[in-house]
Amino acid sequence: MHASISGSPENSVSDGTSPVCCGLVARNKHAIVVQSPAKLNIFLEVCGKRPDGYHELDTVMVRTTFCDRLTVMPRDDQQLRLRFSDATTESLRHGVPLDHNNLILKAAEKLREFRGSGAPGADFILHKQIPPESGLGGGSGNAAAALLACRTVWNLSATDADLHSIAASLGSDINFLLSGCRAAVCRGRGEQIFPIPIRSPLFFVAVRPVRGNSTPDVFRRTRIPETPVSSAEIAQCLAEGRTSQLDKVMFNRLTQAACEANPEMAELISRLQHRTRLPVFMSGSGSTVFVHCQSSQEARKLQTQVQQQLRVTAWHLEV
Ligand code: C5P
Repeated sequence: MHASISGSPENSVSDGTSPVCCGLVARNKHAIVVQSPAKLNIFLEVCGKRPDGYHELDTVMVRTTFCDRLTVMPRDDQQLRLRFSDATTESLRHGVPLDHNNLILKAAEKLREFRGSGAPGADFILHKQIPPESGLGGGSGNAAAALLACRTVWNLSATDADLHSIAASLGSDINFLLSGCRAAVCRGRGEQIFPIPIRSPLFFVAVRPVRGNSTPDVFRRTRIPETPVSSAEIAQCLAEGRTSQLDKVMFNRLTQAACEANPEMAELISRLQHRTRLPVFMSGSGSTVFVHCQSSQEARKLQTQVQQQLRVTAWHLEV
């Protein structure tokens, strides 16, 4: 079976019935609670530099079960307010702004322009679990969750296409997390979504050094290849459920530049490789790096070992 990734992108929004992916957790008259999942880039090629300064990508993103949680409550006045849930740890609060620089508030601000007069307000409570600057799309997922939740609590007539157009104006990874796809080839800046099937579940163990990476810096340092590698083979591998061969086709062009920018991450890659005897990959522009496991059981065992031996927090991510 060939995974079809030609033609027009399919930027639509899931119906929210999925347990993850901006899925609805709870809703009543006063509040809506949605999941905001992390993504992994299991393939990322840089195909060229664009006149607008961005890079043309061919990347495969997968939606994981590792999630933040966003609660949205409409307000009677026009204010937009964001705070952390009490359960959010100190270390995760660091580096996540709560003012207008946060993508949640930027997304809400843009969406309410659809209402025209009488702009509504909202309180947002973020239970942060996905570390910032980690290449897992935490902030992007939060923006996607805010768009979906606000459309509901404000009872707006904005279409899926409207949400996607706001998402693309705010960042390159938001459209994938808004789309509800489990996996997609993403092109353009990353905002054009071509869903692909995954025949078998995927299991990963991910770790991250203390320092995050600056995405613009990593892109700036990256050498653009003369002959880009294509995502076609990994898409085919996923569609046919050949997960035992995934290690041979996973790839990230940004890895070398990210290692130069963040030597702590480079060292973590070699320690993880040494301990697990598995190839190590990086998500997005880093600094999260991960290994692929053949089962949930293997991933859980490895997660414990990595935590004990490398003395870092390790996550077990499923797709
Ligand atoms: O779109 P996003 O905010 O995620 O991008 C952050 C930065 O990463 C951009 O300002 C740009 O420097 C770089 N980038 C890029 N090409 C892409 C995506 C991001 O150069 N396709």
